Amino acid sequence: MKRDVNIDWEKLSFSYMKTDLRYISRWKDGEWDKGKLVEDNMLTISEGSPALHYGQQCFEGMKAYRRKDGVIQLFRPDQNAKRMNESCRRILMPEIPEEKFIDACIQLVRANEAYVPPYGTGATLYIRPFAIGVGDNIGVRPASEYIFSIFCLPVGAYFKGGLAPVNFIVTDFDRAAPFGTGAIKVGGNYAASLMPNKIAVEKGFADCIYLDPATHTKIEEVGAANFFGITEDNKFVTPKSPSILPSITKYSLMHVAKEYLGLEVEERDVFIDNLDEFREAGACGTAAVITPIGGIEHNGKLHVFHSETEVGPITKQLYDTLCGIQFGDVKAPEGWIVEVSEK
Ligand code: PLP
Ligand code: COI
Repeated sequence: MKRDVNIDWEKLSFSYMKTDLRYISRWKDGEWDKGKLVEDNMLTISEGSPALHYGQQCFEGMKAYRRKDGVIQLFRPDQNAKRMNESCRRILMPEIPEEKFIDACIQLVRANEAYVPPYGTGATLYIRPFAIGVGDNIGVRPASEYIFSIFCLPVGAYFKGGLAPVNFIVTDFDRAAPFGTGAIKVGGNYAASLMPNKIAVEKGFADCIYLDPATHTKIEEVGAANFFGITEDNKFVTPKSPSILPSITKYSLMHVAKEYLGLEVEERDVFIDNLDEFREAGACGTAAVITPIGGIEHNGKLHVFHSETEVGPITKQLYDTLCGIQFGDVKAPEGWIVEVSEK
């Protein structure tokens, strides 16, 4: 469906917008149906649905990018499909075949092509796959039926400022337990993050930093994004822990840092009391892209990295290379890009 939509692409923020069509597929009696695109953005489900009471649901976040030549492409959708299935396995939901997941994304993006922002505006089409356990139920047990759906909407920057640094504050709350659900993308982790986020924002910070739930000494997550730091000797360092969401952006940046920028890369503990080891720091994720961290407040003291107003040089190179790959200006590693439209 080719048509014009009236959107000021450069003014977009990260807010819901209803687009034309969404994909929906239902699981019953041991199998997924073929799935279809529908206009209705409302779901009618049983009041007893396990998704509503016991959090049996999971989701993903990915983006479609418009290249300079007009072609639309997805960035590593196979990684989102794999991670969604990690989530499904952990909370006893039926897995979604990778091919079905990617094919659904392609159908959805093609059907909403008018909403894919033009190249050069910095905006992208955000894609939100999710799966929920539904059906009449009351005991704590997995659902008897499931819905897998994907919708999409055009978005701008998640943290306001885009490539301008923002500050974060360390919270005393945890978003996940040491061997709980931190490494999968389930709504419960985000419910746990609502209050710490509110407190951080009320204090004037972009979001909060979570420390490891066992010892509260190591950095885990930056709100809904992973952390990275650049050491004095130019190493790309990012935390390792079983309660961090394995960010696809982070693993992509580790590759970019090593193979494109020639940096050493380390995935290891990052102690909150040793921030001096970094001269630059950033938050990374699909929504956050790369957001430079100006400073981190901890125990009443603000630790400033490169600058509170200017992006550091290595962070800028990482951003330019990653976005270059995503928007088709830089050659991508084999298998990272899936084209959804022709010129
Ligand atoms: N950490 C959390 C808690 C997130 O919600 C996200 C967003 O998906 C990320 C990290 C970044 O992951 P990705 O780069 O795969 O989007
Ligand atoms: C993403 O980066 O895709 C996320 O899921 C972050 C957030 C909006 C929950």
